[in-house]
Amino acid sequence: MEHLRLLDILREHRGAYISGEEISRRLSISRTAVWKQINKLREEGYEFEAVSRKGYRLVFAPDKLEEGDVLEGLQTKSFGRHLNLMEVTSSTQEAARLLAEEGAPEGTLVIAEEQTGGRGRQGKRWYSPARKGIWMSLLLRPQRPLSFAPQLTLLTAVAVCRAIRKVTGVDAGIKWPNDLLVQGKKICGILIESVGEDERIKYCIAGIGIDVNVELEELPTELHTVATSLKIESGQTQSRATLISAVMNELEQLYNLYEEEGFAPIRHLWEALSVTLGKRVTVKTPRGETEGTAEALDETGALVLLDDTGNIITIFSGDVQL
Ligand code: BTN
Repeated sequence: MEHLRLLDILREHRGAYISGEEISRRLSISRTAVWKQINKLREEGYEFEAVSRKGYRLVFAPDKLEEGDVLEGLQTKSFGRHLNLMEVTSSTQEAARLLAEEGAPEGTLVIAEEQTGGRGRQGKRWYSPARKGIWMSLLLRPQRPLSFAPQLTLLTAVAVCRAIRKVTGVDAGIKWPNDLLVQGKKICGILIESVGEDERIKYCIAGIGIDVNVELEELPTELHTVATSLKIESGQTQSRATLISAVMNELEQLYNLYEEEGFAPIRHLWEALSVTLGKRVTVKTPRGETEGTAEALDETGALVLLDDTGNIITIFSGDVQL
């Protein structure tokens, strides 16, 4: 942890030199130990100028997630407080599932800088490049029947949408059930995986993937027309740590509201952020394609369509095309 305290000191002096002697005094470590810590940071991608008699100056800091930066922005009781920050993993869903099975508490959060086997809905892959996005999974233990899991999906979409709008000003909207779009392109995907026991939820893993600082030319070609990032849309690099804490704050607040008042208030918030309602849509369901106008969410969270013959069709799962 010493190298993190060293980093704090160097950041305080950003742009200016600080002598090795002062660092060693402030951290109560030897000059050799300071030098070792500096080298450790260099290995992590930090760049310094070292000038004799003047000391060290931080000239470049990689966009690396630091636990302290996430914790600092939290206003939660439990969400995000048990933090597992990983450099690389196949999927944070898997890492969170293992923790859940070991009895980890509700609110445990797994974040990875990079996922090598990021998973999307319907068995798709989720592109998760290093340090460019937020790839995280939150453990929830709601005391509800299994049939309530789809509502958590909608709740998560509302929370992430509100956090994105607050932190970045980007005008994200929700496509049913839980894709976040900006100008018709996907900026965030949510994958809720639930494990049940006797028809009740044992735990849920809420997987959230947000394309934060991906550049257009870094996106795989097949995603160019369908995906975007907060950096592309806002024109500036966004702080991932600030966004993660904002998502946790919104999520815990909405989750408490859901526990106290049920789905009704969440449903209204979802409707207000929806880009699906009022539009003509095609929905691919396991039983074929349905077309109609998206009218509302029902009280369970299902999508209500009105087809051309005036019939009401309720969609519980499927892929919506606007
Ligand atoms: C979708 O298909 O829209 C859902 C994508 C969900 C991606 C996130 S990234 C963090 C978590 N880990 C995964 O492997 N998937 C989810």
